[in-house]
Amino acid sequence: MTNETGRGAMAETLIKVEDVSHVFPAPDGGGEVIALEGIDIEIGRGEMVSLIGPSGCGKSTLLNVIGGMIAPSQGAALIGGARVRGPRPKEVAYIFQESALLPWATILDNIKVSLEFQKAPRATRDQVAREALKAVGLDAFATSYPHQLSGGMKQRAALARALSLRTDVLLMDEPFAALDEQTRMIFSEDLSRLLANERKTILLVTHSLAEAVFLSDRIFVFTSRPGRIKAVLEVDEPHPRSPAFMTSPKFNDLRNRLYELLRDEVLAAIGKDRQGLA
Ligand SMILES: Nc1ncnc2c1ncn2[C@@H]1O[C@H](COP(=O)(O)OP(=O)(O)O)[C@@H](O)[C@H]1O
Ligand SMILES: [Mg+2]
Repeated sequence: MTNETGRGAMAETLIKVEDVSHVFPAPDGGGEVIALEGIDIEIGRGEMVSLIGPSGCGKSTLLNVIGGMIAPSQGAALIGGARVRGPRPKEVAYIFQESALLPWATILDNIKVSLEFQKAPRATRDQVAREALKAVGLDAFATSYPHQLSGGMKQRAALARALSLRTDVLLMDEPFAALDEQTRMIFSEDLSRLLANERKTILLVTHSLAEAVFLSDRIFVFTSRPGRIKAVLEVDEPHPRSPAFMTSPKFNDLRNRLYELLRDEVLAAIGKDRQGLA
């Protein structure tokens, strides 16, 4: 099944999460925190999926397992059939909530440093970095420093850096969380447009129901901790998605269904936190 842009196709599995559970030692030294329990997921090449669930349900942990930053207590993540045993900068790029730009380097140099870390050929780094800045509309700010940019522009720069690495996989951990709502929605539109013609496989962690519906081919809804997959919602709509999609009945139906699925889990998570406080 392919849509007009080739995105959303489930032709070939690129990422597989097999029976992953993860346990952290509890912060007080005694006992443990079960962050994830029995996660089984398959993500197709070129698919855009969102992970949504209450705070502390293990979304970042799952992203870190796929990115090779955390070795799971049980089970495994596989990319392209190979078991993930550590970070793979040639295959996987990250965007975090904070842009994580180096404050003492220009925007252009920030991207070039990442390319250097990735061991991309020296001769092409400058051009690749400039193209990435152009793609996100920041070419006029190549020689600016992070502190000279707004929050939205910094995240745009972080997106340019991630795109410049030309990885198959992009992991985004609440990349819009620190931005105001209007900026977020514009950013989402940009992202939908930018990615429509790429066969990038994307995992997005978000708290925003609208963002999840607007951007995703599928949405994985998590339970409260220990995080398990509660439901998977499909969003059958071609990319790039227009602002008109956001006001359509289909969009609203999906968002309402998502809210219903999440509501109980958020209440359960709040209840657990309250017990922890008592
Ligand atoms: N490095 C760590 N050490 C101990 N506990 C952790 C660590 N990272 C996360 N946790 C705990 O694991 C649970 C899941 O965390 P996380 O994956 O960050 O959740 P989410 O991203 O869904 O908010 C939380 O209870 C959190 O406190
Ligand atoms: Mg998180």
